Amino acid sequence: MNHDPVDPPPTPFRAGRILIVDDEIAQMRALCETLSDRGFFTVGFASGAEALRALRSQPFELLLTDLSMPDMDGLSLLRQAREFDPALVGVLMTGHGTIDTAVEAMKSGALDYVLKPFKLRLLLPVLERALGIRSLRLENEALQRHLLTRTQDLEAANKELEAYSHSISHDLRAPIRAVINYAGLILADHGEQLPPEARELLKRVCSNSERMARLIEDLLAFARFTRHPLNRQLVDMASLTRAVLDQYQAEISARAIEVRIAELPPCLGDASLLTQVILNLLSNAFKFTRDRTPAVIEIGTLAGADGPGYYVRDNGAGFSMEHAHRLFGVFQRLHHAGEFEGTGIGLSIVQRILRRHGGRIWAEAEPGQGATFIFTLPPGAA
Ligand SMILES: Nc1ncnc2c1ncn2[C@@H]1O[C@H](COP(=O)(O)OP(=O)(O)O)[C@@H](O)[C@H]1O
Ligand SMILES: [Mg+2]
Repeated sequence: MNHDPVDPPPTPFRAGRILIVDDEIAQMRALCETLSDRGFFTVGFASGAEALRALRSQPFELLLTDLSMPDMDGLSLLRQAREFDPALVGVLMTGHGTIDTAVEAMKSGALDYVLKPFKLRLLLPVLERALGIRSLRLENEALQRHLLTRTQDLEAANKELEAYSHSISHDLRAPIRAVINYAGLILADHGEQLPPEARELLKRVCSNSERMARLIEDLLAFARFTRHPLNRQLVDMASLTRAVLDQYQAEISARAIEVRIAELPPCLGDASLLTQVILNLLSNAFKFTRDRTPAVIEIGTLAGADGPGYYVRDNGAGFSMEHAHRLFGVFQRLHHAGEFEGTGIGLSIVQRILRRHGGRIWAEAEPGQGATFIFTLPPGAA
């Protein structure tokens, strides 16, 4: 190591533990001394075997090694050292740097190399950079580990919550059924003996219990649809939609309803879950156009940047966009049960199904002017 008259003065370096290996002992010692003057902790050896032994007994952050040495060359030393401590960073010193050497060095896990003879002011930034990369790598690994644990915790919590809500709704079923049955029995067998006011109250017990039973059933359906494993395949959206509409034939012939189906391209998704999406959207379209003559329901597609976009549009009751953020929440409804019956679970199922496909859904509406629900599936799904 030749001391350069323009070498920078010693600066308080961020301490680093450097293992120096060079078979030219004088050079190795000079390097140890100079770098330790700069605040590094240095230990030097004249052979790879000795260096590997040292690595087993004490930790190092950086291996600064000569490339060609008689017992073990710098590349295989670095490879073995990194097997032992993967966080170790390597810098090679070589007298005959070629592109091949550089490529080989990088393959063996070296971060950099310096050409001999070098000046201290050229070596210092190389070492600093290598140590900086090492700490970034370690921080990154720690973050990744942290993220993994968090994700696993979240997944576990989610599963637990799902299982919990499933078993709760399951357990609630039997008692509410019993309430409905007993109240029904009292009305049937003893209704005549009851004062009219008591009879009325009992009827309310019945209708509210029925409503609660429906909510529980819907909650179970919600849990079922969000847990159902995805079975992706090419889905013919046109025939899927026609099959859903078949279920509404009676209603279509009884009311003045015009149903327009545009050309619907196929997509990649889970056919039974996408059937549920179309069914829930169409059931809303039929329900909220009940007061319209004629009711017009349109199903079509929009060209969009983020994959195929399908829409279901109606000219029904609509809603104010002010409340649109509540549409997809569990049990959220924008209309009163007295006006339009329902439990407010349909759209939340639709949103969860689309999310699981990697798609999304949103709505555009105006009170009294109808509503349009648009959903997209990711481009790969087309
Ligand atoms: N096509 C539509 N037109 C007007 N309002 C709608 C429409 N679809 C959904 N909504 C509003 O969103 C709410 C939630 O819908 P949904 O989850 O399907 O529940 P439900 O149909 O049981 O009320 C509805 O109660 C209604 O207020
Ligand atoms: Mg609905």
